[in-house]
Amino acid sequence: MEPISLARGVPAPECLALEELADCARAAIERDGATALNYGPAGGYAPLRDWIADRHRVEPERVVLTNGSLQGFRFFAELLSPTGTVIVEAPTYDRPLKILDELEAEVICIPLDEEPAVDGGAFLYTIPTFQNPTGRTLSRDRRKHLANLAKEALLVLEDDPYGLVRFDGKPEPTVFELARGENVVYSSSFSKTVAPGLRVGYLVLPVALADKVVAAATASYITPALLSQATVYEFLRRGNLEPNLERINGLLRARRDAMVSALERHLPEATWTVPEGGYFVWVELPPGILASDLRAEGVTFVPGSDFFCGPGGENAIRLAFSYESPSAIEEGVRRLASAVRAAIVLSRAA
Ligand SMILES: Cc1ncc(COP(=O)(O)O)c(C=O)c1O
Repeated sequence: MEPISLARGVPAPECLALEELADCARAAIERDGATALNYGPAGGYAPLRDWIADRHRVEPERVVLTNGSLQGFRFFAELLSPTGTVIVEAPTYDRPLKILDELEAEVICIPLDEEPAVDGGAFLYTIPTFQNPTGRTLSRDRRKHLANLAKEALLVLEDDPYGLVRFDGKPEPTVFELARGENVVYSSSFSKTVAPGLRVGYLVLPVALADKVVAAATASYITPALLSQATVYEFLRRGNLEPNLERINGLLRARRDAMVSALERHLPEATWTVPEGGYFVWVELPPGILASDLRAEGVTFVPGSDFFCGPGGENAIRLAFSYESPSAIEEGVRRLASAVRAAIVLSRAA
């Protein structure tokens, strides 16, 4: 049986613009190789910093490029978490939870459907759009609430790698935009919009914090991966971003639709989110069934409890629709549904 991964939050191979990126890498070397192939400033390749600054209407000094946005999170958390409590959504992306755990940070988890009423702390980490793991998007009101919180009390880190990976509906303003960049740090990445192997992510920060993140980057590597950054810049400079998004979002929409209709067909006893973009669907299993009860063969998924810093998510699973083909998704959900059915039978027999 060919294994099917509904666990991997990675793009399908067809999402990667291989030929165009090969051409961009060559052009980046030909145009600016003396810079892109040398050691360079820890803040990143200047033309890309300028492009991002322009897009977010900030000064380039506020933009710091990192080797993927998760590394930006690590630098940020290393700097800030010793100063107080870190507030995260429950559930939230598991890797930041692991980093915070490694840093021995004090972490408070706030259920996703609650409006956080917090007074101080080191920072609040939120993924407002097509969240990993639930796929849900915060309403305008909730975003305003976070923007106000940022203005009044608490530094907010808005992680937004999926915002442009939208298949349906209209985008809401980012928390960063609603707060006019005040006390909100914005994090994003070209992993989902261009290619994750390039490892190009970024943070937009207040200048004083940006200097500190640059110092942390300087202390951790001699130079950033400038060729990757110059390749992304070449891709953007050619006007490829919008057409590439249209292409990728079409491929992902077909996968999201395949997953949702397979769930309707094979697992109607469960409930799930229907995200307008991103990579993930969050499935609540039928009452009484836990993710740990499932003995699924030939299909992988991530148990919901991985995304909580305390108890929670035991009866949920995260399914990624980003990687497999629509037909493999259908088959994967079918295999999962038989595991659920077997768990129901066992639980009745017990
Ligand atoms: C919410 C979220 N933030 C950050 C990342 C990390 O992305 P990058 O490849 O930019 O490090 C991911 C990757 O899956 C993610 O889901």
